[in-house]
Amino acid sequence: MKLSERIHYVGVNDDEKSLFEGLWPLPSGVSYNSYLAVDEKIALIDTVEHGFEDEFIAAIAESIGDRNIDYLVVNHMEPDHSSLITYIMERYPDLQIVANAKTLPMLKGYYAVPEEKVLIVGENDEVSLGSCSLRFHMIPMVHWPETMVTWLEEEKTLFSGDAFGTFGCVDEEVVDNDGTFEEYRDEMIRYYSNIVGKYGNPVQTALKKLSGLDIRRVCSTHGPVWENNISKVVSLYEKLSRYEVERGVCIVYGSMYGNTAAAADALAMELEARGIPYAIHDLAGNNSGELGVSGALRDVFKYDTVAVGSPTYNNGIYPPVETFMKALSSRLIRNRRFYAFGSYTWSGASVRQLNELAASMNFEVLGEGMSFPQAYTREKCDMAAVAELLR
Ligand SMILES: Cc1cc2nc3c(=O)[nH]c(=O)nc-3n(C[C@H](O)[C@H](O)[C@H](O)COP(=O)(O)O)c2cc1C
Ligand SMILES: [Fe+2]
Ligand SMILES: [Fe+2]
Repeated sequence: MKLSERIHYVGVNDDEKSLFEGLWPLPSGVSYNSYLAVDEKIALIDTVEHGFEDEFIAAIAESIGDRNIDYLVVNHMEPDHSSLITYIMERYPDLQIVANAKTLPMLKGYYAVPEEKVLIVGENDEVSLGSCSLRFHMIPMVHWPETMVTWLEEEKTLFSGDAFGTFGCVDEEVVDNDGTFEEYRDEMIRYYSNIVGKYGNPVQTALKKLSGLDIRRVCSTHGPVWENNISKVVSLYEKLSRYEVERGVCIVYGSMYGNTAAAADALAMELEARGIPYAIHDLAGNNSGELGVSGALRDVFKYDTVAVGSPTYNNGIYPPVETFMKALSSRLIRNRRFYAFGSYTWSGASVRQLNELAASMNFEVLGEGMSFPQAYTREKCDMAAVAELLR
């Protein structure tokens, strides 16, 4: 698949895997994107996940026939992109790996790549392919410490690694059209919040570093190639990395017997009635098809208020909800308003503990929350008042 005479797409779609990193649901799969820069010399930029050897090598053969690959640029060592390095090195024994100093020990440790096979590059170094050349910019912690991007000035193309990536397979076109951004927007936010969300500051640093480039094509490692929506994609990353949000409520709850769930639903109805934007996520493990923590994180990156429901469980927070709270704190999320609710039977503890966790993350805790005994009823729980509080 040619993106231009010199740049070819050789990535693959994975619609088999159900959980990315064994953790994040993939309702519409994910793509592992790899690219060829074809000139007097040929560079392959990143590989794809193992299991796709045949498809990958077929795409490469279709693109360059029996020409040799001179360089394999390793922008990022996470195995979804690096796990076919050995496979490619075996097929192209003369190939040289292009990587930075932080990548080298990882190449050795994962794939026993001998040092003499590696051309070490640093910030702004250049590797000529003939009529065009590759340049490298380090973007540490987007999303590992060794991560870099590759810039091809003559094509105004940025090979951005995971940055600007998204969940979801790509269709045959690969390149975006006017509608693609809206189509992928939610999945892009979910990808960012799940995978990169912790690294807002490094993303900011990377965006500043790349802002001088006149980018016309973004080739990330997951999702569509961006040509027609670059400003939208970049400004979404700007916004997400600054943890910027709009007014609205992300309701997240877990419930064993439906009582905390009933309170969550009642709150959703009251928000709905007031036209307050909201999302609702059930974290209990029995709801196949739900996005769980993954979807909840996405919406915490959208809305300024988090309403968390948990029953009291062994004098504490219901474990799936505790996991979610941990995910919030590890993503260094700030500037959020917080409200807790939940059912108990003999002595409530979850709401107080949720509020303590929220306070420790510097969230603004709104009121003392709603800890209610046994069943949810309208008499016990004035969700209209809660909706007003969260307005
Ligand atoms: C394993 C387990 C542990 C519980 N621990 C407590 C507890 O420590 N204190 C309490 O008041 N209720 C406790 N409960 C009772 C629940 O909080 C109560 O059933 C609540 O209504 C469940 O809400 P839900 O319907 O939203 O799951 C526990 C229930 C279970 C199943
Ligand atoms: Fe990654
Ligand atoms: Fe990745």
